[in-house]
Amino acid sequence: MSLDIEKLKADVSMDVAQAATLEVLEAMRLKYLGKKGLLQELYAGLASASPEEKKLIGKGANELKVLAENLIEERKKTLSTSKKRGAAIDVTIPGVANDAGTKHLINQTLEEICDVFERMGFVIQRGPEIESEFNNFTALNIPLDHPSRDSFDTFYLDQEDPTAKGRYLLLRSHTSPGQMRVMQKHKPPMAVIIPGKVYRPDAVDASHSFMFHQIEGLLVDKNVTFADLKGLLTAFCKKFFGDDVKMRFRPHYFPFTEPSAEVDIQSNIFKGRAGKWLEILGCGMVHPKVFEHAGYPPGEYTGLAFGLGVERIAMLKHGIGDIRTFAENDMRFLKQF
Ligand code: PHE
Repeated sequence: MSLDIEKLKADVSMDVAQAATLEVLEAMRLKYLGKKGLLQELYAGLASASPEEKKLIGKGANELKVLAENLIEERKKTLSTSKKRGAAIDVTIPGVANDAGTKHLINQTLEEICDVFERMGFVIQRGPEIESEFNNFTALNIPLDHPSRDSFDTFYLDQEDPTAKGRYLLLRSHTSPGQMRVMQKHKPPMAVIIPGKVYRPDAVDASHSFMFHQIEGLLVDKNVTFADLKGLLTAFCKKFFGDDVKMRFRPHYFPFTEPSAEVDIQSNIFKGRAGKWLEILGCGMVHPKVFEHAGYPPGEYTGLAFGLGVERIAMLKHGIGDIRTFAENDMRFLKQF
């Protein structure tokens, strides 16, 4: 009987060492320690043994039990950790590509433009997309029923303006109402940029969308001149489009600036559009009526203002021919930027 036990100890060591998986190891545990296992058989034999033998078998069976339990426990640890470690260092398994997203090109462009102005000392402000008729029009010297409102076609909401300064609330058709919000809250000197979404009920085509992004700029102080406006926008265009950019200020009309201009540029970076003058922004000197609506004392301040179209600039810079691609969420387009 004692011989058998020595053999069983050798067997269990061998069996456990050779168990290559946790499943095989479990089968070995059942073989030795299970309810119908070899150890139970040994205990069953005790009944018919002499007192002398009982002592030996009991001692041997206990030793076998402890040995089997320890070996199995240890082997279990080795198998489960080596399984993990093995997977981590198997260099032949193809990697799982980390499918990282990128910022949308419109946001990238918007941030790049804001960066240039922030480095010049401008501060970012934001206004709401739902505006009052007063801020979007009246305060900007576009009176109710004035035909110049037609050039800023507008989505009106089915909700009256609670301030009663205009009839209805609306989706802002440009970022210029942000000028009024800033001026009503702060006294000059000030230099702010106001980026955001604007809405116009345009029929959608390659160059029109009912929603697009603008960045408004406003600088107010004493003795600000048109030369400051030219200098500022020239510095911006050189930073953003490169030193070789050509610019022209073309006289224009906006009710809220006087004089007003549109800026066209020519740049070699515009793929396929080299040599063409392309309009990128509207600008001018803040109209005295606007200061009046802001509550500033007449004649005390002068200011410059400008409004840039972000989609247009992104399209020119990256040679994109259709504004609709920005909103189509086609990964083949989005992943290029
Ligand atoms: N708000 C004008 C537009 O949407 C742009 C502009 C802003 C012009 C500020 C002059 C000054 O076309």
